[in-house]
Amino acid sequence: ARSHSIAVLPGDGIGPEVVAEAVKVLDAVTRPAGVTLEKTSYPLGAEHWLETGEVLNEDTMERLRSHDAILFGAVGAAPNDKRIPSGILERDLLLKLRFGFDHYINLRPAVLYPGATSPLSDPGEIDFVVVREGTEGLYAGNGGTLRTGTEHEIATEVSVNTAHGVRRLVRYAFDLANSRTRKRLTLVHKHNVLVNAGRLYQRTVDELGEQYPDVTVDYMHIDAATIFMTTDPARFDVIVTDNLFGDILTDQAGAVTGGIGLAPSGNINADRIAPSMFEPVHGSAPDIAGTGTAQPTAAILAGAMMLQHLGHPDLAEQVNAAVRADLEANGSAQRSTSQVGDDVVAQLGARSV
Ligand code: NAD
Ligand code: IPM
Ligand code: MN
Repeated sequence: ARSHSIAVLPGDGIGPEVVAEAVKVLDAVTRPAGVTLEKTSYPLGAEHWLETGEVLNEDTMERLRSHDAILFGAVGAAPNDKRIPSGILERDLLLKLRFGFDHYINLRPAVLYPGATSPLSDPGEIDFVVVREGTEGLYAGNGGTLRTGTEHEIATEVSVNTAHGVRRLVRYAFDLANSRTRKRLTLVHKHNVLVNAGRLYQRTVDELGEQYPDVTVDYMHIDAATIFMTTDPARFDVIVTDNLFGDILTDQAGAVTGGIGLAPSGNINADRIAPSMFEPVHGSAPDIAGTGTAQPTAAILAGAMMLQHLGHPDLAEQVNAAVRADLEANGSAQRSTSQVGDDVVAQLGARSV
């Protein structure tokens, strides 16, 4: 299609700052191509909750469902903001969207671009993708507390892992690995301790692996994976893992590829029965919000993932190439948020001449 209806949820903190730059770049790349993004902004997040007592109601949820895709910034209050209990916005907004729209693939590429500065002295060529489960595991919200507030309190969070959920995740990861040059799939889990979920994951990988003779499969416990993520991240190609392990590992992946401000993600419903959602891996960064220094690159690259999903791989590649050129030209020089957006737009222009 040449026209797409996009819901834009800037959210809190640096969310609106980085989303503005993503929109700037998206407009600059789509307009000359004759592609139209009809954008509707949804002012949800901390302010909305403080004003209305509502995070995300069913009516808004249904309006969001009618869009072709969602561009998301970040939600979450500052840890010292006592007006907003931790978890309200995260659970009732971000996770409600991921669960409600069945975003079972949380796709998180990690690429070390030339010009980006890894904290590793010899990082090698880092180019891998984490296929993180998006709708199950410890995020399922299954648990509670007994004897709350007493010294005998028992707090539980139960990890939910279904054969259906694991199978569709692992299937997607194998297809992705099979399409890549190195064709390597690493299952990351902790099946030496989490034996129930771990065995389900391992068995599913073993079974589906038979259908992918060209894909080399290996396994790593999550604790060891964090070692290799530091000592040799270039070894990874496709990682498949559960919701919480994937959350933790992708912050680390962001760090070794030049910083969390460069790491994009897609929350994908691969069956396309609901809009997929694209966002930076990072959060609302209250420590730098309002300073105009947040890196918008992660949000811009999330925009490229959205273009890819909407059927415009050529436009997605233009954005990726412009970001690559921008990082090569400017490295890790400190620039304002809007300057980075302008520079990426300039690279788009320079490349289309
Ligand atoms: P965070 O990702 O917001 O910040 C971690 C560190 O990275 C901070 O020092 C921050 O300044 C820095 N950082 C993050 N994004 C950056 C960018 N684009 N450019 C430069 N520096 C950047 O994680 P946190 O501090 O743990 O969480 C802050 C709030 O965000 C919490 O309320 C949390 O729940 C929420 N959160 C939301 C999302 C989301 O909406 N997807 C993701 C993570 C955290
Ligand atoms: C992320 C965030 C979220 C997650 C939180 C805010 C719910 O950390 O997108 O990585 O844990 O998935
Ligand atoms: Mn996270």
